[in-house]
Amino acid sequence: MNFINYVIRQHPQFPGKILFLTLLVFVGTHAAWPQADLTGFWVFRAPTGDGNFRETFFEIKQSGETISGKVLAGSREVAISDGTFKNGTLKFAIVYGNPPQTRHVLYQGTLEEGKIALSLASPEQDPIKGAAKRSKRKAALPPPRLPLPDLHDVPDGGLARTPPMGWNSWNKFAGKVDDATIRRIADAMVANGMKDAGYVYVNIDDTWEGPRDAQGNITSNLKFPDMKALADYVHSKGLKIGIYSSPGPKTCAGYEGSYGHEEQDAKTFAAWGIDYLKYDWCSASRIYKNDEMQAVYQRMGDALQKTGRPILYSLCQYGINDVWKWGPNVGANLWRTTGDISDNWKSLERIGFRQFDIASYTKVGRWNDPDMLEIGNGGMSADEYRTHISLWSLLAAPLLAGNDLRSMSDETRSILTNAEVIAIDQDSDGKPAKRISDPEATAVVVVRPLHDGSVAVALFNRAEQPQEISVKWEVVGLAAKKKLSARDLWKHGAVQISGDGYQTTVPSHGVVLLKVVSENPKH
Ligand code: GLA
Repeated sequence: MNFINYVIRQHPQFPGKILFLTLLVFVGTHAAWPQADLTGFWVFRAPTGDGNFRETFFEIKQSGETISGKVLAGSREVAISDGTFKNGTLKFAIVYGNPPQTRHVLYQGTLEEGKIALSLASPEQDPIKGAAKRSKRKAALPPPRLPLPDLHDVPDGGLARTPPMGWNSWNKFAGKVDDATIRRIADAMVANGMKDAGYVYVNIDDTWEGPRDAQGNITSNLKFPDMKALADYVHSKGLKIGIYSSPGPKTCAGYEGSYGHEEQDAKTFAAWGIDYLKYDWCSASRIYKNDEMQAVYQRMGDALQKTGRPILYSLCQYGINDVWKWGPNVGANLWRTTGDISDNWKSLERIGFRQFDIASYTKVGRWNDPDMLEIGNGGMSADEYRTHISLWSLLAAPLLAGNDLRSMSDETRSILTNAEVIAIDQDSDGKPAKRISDPEATAVVVVRPLHDGSVAVALFNRAEQPQEISVKWEVVGLAAKKKLSARDLWKHGAVQISGDGYQTTVPSHGVVLLKVVSENPKH
């Protein structure tokens, strides 16, 4: 109160007024100002920049200045963390996924006339601004459940006699894919030898979708002004074109899915000239249970065949419910066996070396899909990328490049277009690869019998240092007595092997890939 005494001394004529004003300032700066209570349901509507709006529902709980609650993000509910609401400013974070693959999204906004002007920021994308309005729990609910068809076998459409090869937009471009990018990628595939190496499909992943028209037909968004014209362009290059949808009401990126419009969408895709559909579970999990997937996927399998156009059918449901056992029944040509790959060794190792137990489910026209390639995206070494395509080829996995084909380095190009490695992937027998080493070993020996009687033999080194890896011919099914010769498919030359086996130093995370030929296979 020294300050007030001083003021009274300086202004004896107005002590009361000054004292009142000073008290007002004191209360204003020191007392908690009563603030609004944000508790309740909110919907955040933000433009995606392509004519669509993304809606996100929040259930917010406020206690004093602390904010908790959850976001209802498509099929998931994720808790709000580090939430505060102070002096009209709301801040909170949402952490998606589990370590090490977490994605942090930060929300910040101000309350203005009952609405929150909100923006979100995450390291993966440009900041997004929009408005959150009060909503109701009901609005966040998925549409009512539609009955499922009885199970039957969808006939084999005769497609994908070898694992599909091509390119997909997601790994490199995610939501930033558009018509011009697809055209230039197609041009690049023709110009840079990818097409000649066998890469045929140019696949548009999520975020091409626009709203449905008055008749319920799916449209493309502003990034794709004319899908038919784009398909014609890709076809004019001697390539094929793929598209993406979901059996749920929304795709994984929150765009329009095919739920309740399966036949209609299949017809639209056929009319556009689409050759390949990736069908991603996403928000279908809000309506159907995992053990109902077969019926859900069968519905689109039937719809595609009904169009009369050969459209390759790719299931994406992350390997749930042993999809490799029923994928063929729904007419699928390939099915994802895992969650999403990312461009780092841990992800590649975790996915790639876990495929052997289910390798025998791969058959001609029915392929296990351990996800798309990351080669050339910059997060791994050349040795790791060589391991990537070698392992995928031994597994007879689809080879869908996921990098920017317009600007790849010579090294990336030479890895992606190694004809001798691709020939293993594309072997007409489609026989499964077998790991003959201990599942936990860092020295991994894998073999795959090929149509011409030869055997692909790979020595992978998962260790952090180079190591000697050896293989005995007897163990890989090549009788020791046969006269054998071998070719190194990365060095493109013959290698000296002994009568009973081979031993060499393999770089850390690298591979030595041999094709072993019996010169007299009859004896
Ligand atoms: C899922 C799929 C990815 C990609 C994205 C698109 O995560 O597994 O391959 O298609 O959705 O939203």
